[in-house]
Amino acid sequence: MENSYTSFEPVLSYESVKAHYEGIYKTMRGKYTLNLKSCGINTPEYPPRFYKKTDRELKRDLYYYGFAVYAHEMFFNSLTEFSSGYTCPKERFGSKIRENWSSYDSFLYDFTETALKMRGPGFVWAAFDCSGGRLLILSNSGYEAFDIKRYIPLFCIDMFEHSYYIDYYCDREKYLKNCLRIINYARAEKLLENIS
Ligand SMILES: [Fe+2]
Repeated sequence: MENSYTSFEPVLSYESVKAHYEGIYKTMRGKYTLNLKSCGINTPEYPPRFYKKTDRELKRDLYYYGFAVYAHEMFFNSLTEFSSGYTCPKERFGSKIRENWSSYDSFLYDFTETALKMRGPGFVWAAFDCSGGRLLILSNSGYEAFDIKRYIPLFCIDMFEHSYYIDYYCDREKYLKNCLRIINYARAEKLLENIS
């Protein structure tokens, strides 16, 4: 993780980030690594690639845990320190938003609606659609992977209960809106630059 457990306070507490990172992320990473080792693969790759030599069940586990690791790393790196105040997109990312939405607030509204309409846990993503050449808001169920070569992730928010329960109990909307105030747009901008 590029930040410390206290970096996101007061949006996310030290206790919440530590429990999420050490309790969930590290467990997923450990299971992914164990699955890989059982296949004779010692160097994990994120996101996971297709392992031809594994049986069907093993491939499913590899993909599940591999995407869980990838999504969590994206999430922890999608946020930035609150100390410098609220963030907003600039440069190319900002112009990409304006191509599809009337304003940044409109983009945030759609992102929030997408997240709150999810019927179960998962992640909400801002991604660049390479085929359409435009920014999209996507959600995925649980750790179900999507085609990240076509839809290149720029940032995401973890909507699993374990992400917000310590700080926000059941108030998913407040958690989400606060996280959207500390998006690391400088990082998202670099990811966008690397695409073209
Ligand atoms: Fe999570």
